[in-house]
Amino acid sequence: MELTKQEEKMLSGGQGEAVRKSMEILVALGKIFGADRLIPVSSVQIAGVSYDNLGEAGLEFLADMAKDGKARALTTLNPAGMDLENWENLGISREFADKQMLVIDAFAKMGVITSCTCTPYLIGNLPRFGEHIAWSESSAVCFANSVLGARSNREGGPSALASAITGRTPNYGMHIDANRQASVLVRVKTKIHGTSEFGALGKVIGEKAGNKIPLIRGVHEASLEELKGLCASIATYGGTAMFHIPKITPERTKVPKEAIEVSRDDIKAALESMNDECEPDFVSLGCPHLSIREIENIAGMLRGKHVKIETWLATARQTKRLADMMGYSKVIEDSGAKFACDTCMVVAPLKGRFKCLATDSAKSCFYARGKNAFKVHAGTFEQCISAAITGKWKK
Ligand code: F3S
Repeated sequence: MELTKQEEKMLSGGQGEAVRKSMEILVALGKIFGADRLIPVSSVQIAGVSYDNLGEAGLEFLADMAKDGKARALTTLNPAGMDLENWENLGISREFADKQMLVIDAFAKMGVITSCTCTPYLIGNLPRFGEHIAWSESSAVCFANSVLGARSNREGGPSALASAITGRTPNYGMHIDANRQASVLVRVKTKIHGTSEFGALGKVIGEKAGNKIPLIRGVHEASLEELKGLCASIATYGGTAMFHIPKITPERTKVPKEAIEVSRDDIKAALESMNDECEPDFVSLGCPHLSIREIENIAGMLRGKHVKIETWLATARQTKRLADMMGYSKVIEDSGAKFACDTCMVVAPLKGRFKCLATDSAKSCFYARGKNAFKVHAGTFEQCISAAITGKWKK
């Protein structure tokens, strides 16, 4: 891989230890993936923020990088393991909170915006078409590539941090035109509606097409919320960093020869596969983090009602501030539902606390089962809010 004189200097330690270590990470990655050079990035999103996932070794690595590392690109953070202001209300221990705050402090010291949301594109980290970026949240990477037309590989936490500190990423994968072409055509033969159905669609395509880039035909309209749900699900169940949907994805692709179909029966079967025998004791909405429109919708459903079971609404703190301004937060909090800002049910330390989750998110179902051993119900917002109020799941 060819490095500029300045990059050579960065690699040999001429700009400090954090830059040297970051360059080592990026050069090693570039060699593995056959990159010809490093390219500048203007936006970074770092995942791997929860102390629950990082542990002591991760915290030590970050504290070390923070000694002399500084972000050179606009850099935001993925959710942490707790609400940074209201962690006690979510049942998080002081011991965990203290460790989590050390993680956040290390990022802040490096000049990273401690936004703690997986929807950076909703809070000001919004790359434009064609922009090279280094993001490490699979749902957001898919959204950036497929909806915004920006260019990001699925970075890991350390490689995203390395890109923040150097302002560079290796030139391979999704940064290159030829690799952004679809390789499987997906004909959707049924109308898809709502975030839970878009999540189910992502699950079906992900399971059928794996990490191939699909060209999805038959989806004629989708809201921002439906697209963020589709991105989360398709990236979780298949591993792709991108899809094409005509009139939504702002770049063209050739039509692949290999084709698959998605029928109403496929969507039904996907939803059924995310519905276990259990009565919910936990409702969580906001995977990916809720938009202000979704919060308005939930406030409308909860007005004058009381929830019977623990109910979390995961969102960015900035979005919650909008909800405060509009009076939605008061309505929601009066019902007993809780905001989970800066965090989500997947990255918070919840193992063993609940048995049966109700959610609209296919991605949440995947991790609730795999990470926390919960049973799950996937359904619409209406079904989830009704479960919150009654403690029962209605089909
Ligand atoms: Fe975001 Fe947590 Fe889901 S990080 S995409 S809400 S698993």
